[in-house]
Amino acid sequence: MTEPEVPQKRPYPMQVEAGKEYHVCMCGKSQNQPMCDGSHAGSGLGPKVFKATEAGFVAFCGCKHSKDETGKCDGRRSSSSIIIGFKQILVFILDNKFHYSSTLVI
Ligand code: FES
Repeated sequence: MTEPEVPQKRPYPMQVEAGKEYHVCMCGKSQNQPMCDGSHAGSGLGPKVFKATEAGFVAFCGCKHSKDETGKCDGRRSSSSIIIGFKQILVFILDNKFHYSSTLVI
C-alpha cells in the first residue's frame, strides 16, 4: 500500500460554507493543502469528500493518516497536534474577526 506524504503533523483549520462539498487531499502531495489539487494522480491515493451541512470551522487532517471518512483530523498523530490545531483555529477566528481592529492584543 502507498504511504501518503505528511505535509504537517497538525490539522489544517478551515472555514467551510454550508452546502458546499470539499475534496480533502489524503496523499499529501497537493500544493493547495488541505484540499486536493489533482497531484495524487498515479499515487494510488485520492481525496476524501467532506460535505458541509452547516457553516463553520473544520480541522482537516494534516498528517494524511486520519481514518475519518471525510478527511477531518482524528488525532491520530498525537494529542498535542489536536491542541495545536484548536489553537490555530482560535487564532484564525480571532485574526479574521478582528482583522481591522487595532485594539486587539493576543
Ligand atoms: S492531491 Fe492529494 S488526494 Fe488529490
